[in-house]
Amino acid sequence: MTDAPREDLSPPDGDRPRRRPRYPGTHPRRLEQKYKEHNPRAYPEIVAEVRARGGTPAGTHVPVLLAEIMDILAPTEGECVADGTLGYGGHATEFLRRIGPTGRLFGFDLDAVQLERTRQRLAESFSNFTVHRSNFAGLAKPLAAAGLDGYDIILADLGVSSMQVDDPARGFSYKYDGPLDMRMDDRRPRTAAELLATMPAGELARALWELADEKDNERIAHAIVQQRTRRPIRRTFDLVEILFEAKGMTRRTWRERAKADQHALHPAAKTFQALRILVNDELGSLKNLLRIAPSCLRSGGRIGIISFHSGEDRLVERAFREGLERSVYAAVSEDAVRPSRTERFDNPRSSSAKFRWARRV
Ligand SMILES: C[S@@+](CC[C@H](N)C(=O)[O-])C[C@H]1O[C@@H](n2cnc3c(N)ncnc32)[C@H](O)[C@@H]1O
Repeated sequence: MTDAPREDLSPPDGDRPRRRPRYPGTHPRRLEQKYKEHNPRAYPEIVAEVRARGGTPAGTHVPVLLAEIMDILAPTEGECVADGTLGYGGHATEFLRRIGPTGRLFGFDLDAVQLERTRQRLAESFSNFTVHRSNFAGLAKPLAAAGLDGYDIILADLGVSSMQVDDPARGFSYKYDGPLDMRMDDRRPRTAAELLATMPAGELARALWELADEKDNERIAHAIVQQRTRRPIRRTFDLVEILFEAKGMTRRTWRERAKADQHALHPAAKTFQALRILVNDELGSLKNLLRIAPSCLRSGGRIGIISFHSGEDRLVERAFREGLERSVYAAVSEDAVRPSRTERFDNPRSSSAKFRWARRV
């Protein structure tokens, strides 16, 4: 018997840094310095170490509620699945394993860069899938072209991926300085900075309350409007400074508070969440998905939605309950499924996830 050829696990030449990047302290802090984390196959021990600390290795995303979702949506051999939010492809990989070579998966995402990376990664193991740079509200479109009458399963895992949040250039995170962009789809006309430059204070205050339950909404909206008359708010840290001030804090007092209470919410967290939802019209997309989903599901088909804040969860719960009352759905989840303690510990980013499902008559 001959030895099987050994897989080359060294980083591809293009990825191999000429010199080890220097960083202060014992751990790299900036995304581009974490070259070992970016290379999970070459450095599995580094990736395992980051996961064991409850972190998400740079450039990856840990799928939430994976086992629960597979149990409930129960994909079987030969089924047709729409993953409306392909992201890193964690849920999609598990679907593809379960539907086997006779099944088909359609993966949708607004983010062109991540979509192409995930397509390449999935193509190493599977061929029965296609990717579509599209809003999940358009998931009916490829069906006719593929000669299909509907999906057996639709999944939407709302919000942004860890790859997007952790990349300072995307402007999603209050932890890193970067352009205040926040668009998942760079074809969208308005960045967060552009939105903040023009939105009336009243509208801003309402959005902060409705999309993130920010109780200091009026004070924050007023501070933003004041600041933009002096200087444009272009970067994430410009906004973070305004938020610290509006909440009567400084970076130092916040650091002390965070040290004393590990669960304390960052003063910028809610405003960043509300802005992201506004910039990407996330509630509009969700409403459209909930409206078209019944006509895209085969008889007995299942839909599952993972949401991360109460506004989204309420929309999902109401749409599924109304669908049940109108006999569009035969069964719906009674309560939202939440991550276990172990999952929340292993992946703190899963903490606010809520999963609801419905089954077509
Ligand atoms: C939470 S991540 C999904 C992670 C994925 N389930 C996994 O296991 O890797 C959400 C992804 O959905 C995309 N997305 C968010 N809203 C979308 C929408 N309306 N239509 C299509 N993609 C969307 C984001 O760009 C992001 O890549």
